[in-house]
Amino acid sequence: MSQRELDAAIQTFYAEVFDEGVRLTTRSPQGRLEFERTQAIVRAATPVPARVLDVGGATGVHAAAFAVAGYEVVLVDPVARQVAAAARIGTFVAQLGDARQLDFPDDSFDAVLMAGPLYHLTHRSERLQALGEAQRVCRPGGFVHAAAIPRLVAFAAAALDQDLLVNSLDDWLGLLRHGTPVPALRFPGGHFHTPDELQDEMTDAGIRNVTVVGLEGPAGIALETVAEVTDADYSAAQQLARTFAHTPDIRDFSNHLLGSGQA
Ligand SMILES: C[S@@+](CC[C@H](N)C(=O)[O-])C[C@H]1O[C@@H](n2cnc3c(N)ncnc32)[C@H](O)[C@@H]1O
Repeated sequence: MSQRELDAAIQTFYAEVFDEGVRLTTRSPQGRLEFERTQAIVRAATPVPARVLDVGGATGVHAAAFAVAGYEVVLVDPVARQVAAAARIGTFVAQLGDARQLDFPDDSFDAVLMAGPLYHLTHRSERLQALGEAQRVCRPGGFVHAAAIPRLVAFAAAALDQDLLVNSLDDWLGLLRHGTPVPALRFPGGHFHTPDELQDEMTDAGIRNVTVVGLEGPAGIALETVAEVTDADYSAAQQLARTFAHTPDIRDFSNHLLGSGQA
C-alpha cells in the first residue's frame, strides 16, 4: 500500500471504524496502563507551567489530562472527526494537521508528545521528517516523546489472527526483518519498530540523549485476558512495567515503546 493509500485508510479507520476516544480509558485495562505511564513520563520530564504539543492526539484523551494538570496544550491530528471531538472538550486548542509538516514556528513548545504518527508512516524518510518537525517546534532542551509499536508485539498479534494463512512466508519475513505490516492486519499500520531503530531514528532527527522504554510491560497483555482486573492485578502489572521498562528484549513485550529525548 502506498503512503497516499495508507493516509486515506487512516482517515476511514479513525473516523468510522475505531473509536480512539475510549481506547485509553474504558476499552482495555492495557489502555489505562499505556495512558498512565505516558502521562507520568511526559509530566516528570516537563513540569508545569509549560506548553505541550500533542501530535496525532486523536480525540484529546492525553491533551485533556495535560490541561487538567495545568499545561497549556495544543493538539494536532489529520482526522477531522477526531479534531472536532477534541475541540468540544474546550480546555485546549485542537486543530487539523500532519506530523510531517507542523504549522508552528521553531521553538514554540516546551514538550512534544507524538503518540501515533510513527505507526502509520511506512518510509523512514517520512518518520524522520515527522520527528524532525517535533524537534524543530520544541525549544532547545525541551523534551520530545515519540511512541512506536514494537515489532515483536506486531508479530505476535498477526500470528494469533484468524487470517494467519493469508500471510505468505515473505510477508512474515518482511515484518520481522523490516517492520513491514503483514496484509491480514486490520490496523492501517505503516511500520513496526525495534527499540534500537526508534532510538536511531530519533537521534538521526536531531533529538539528543534518547532513551526508549516499554510502556505497558510484560504483564500488559495478560491484563487483557483477566475477566475482571482488580486493583491488585493492575498494581502488579504497573510495577512490572516500571521495573522492566528499560530491559532489552523484555521492553519489546510492551504494546508500545516510548522514546524520549531533548530538542
Ligand atoms: C493509535 S492513534 C493514537 C492516538 C493518541 N495519540 C493516543 O495515544 O491514544 C494514532 C493517531 O495518529 C494520527 N495520525 C496518523 N497519521 C498521522 C500523521 N501523519 N500526522 C499526525 N497524526 C497522524 C491518527 O489520526 C490517530 O489519531
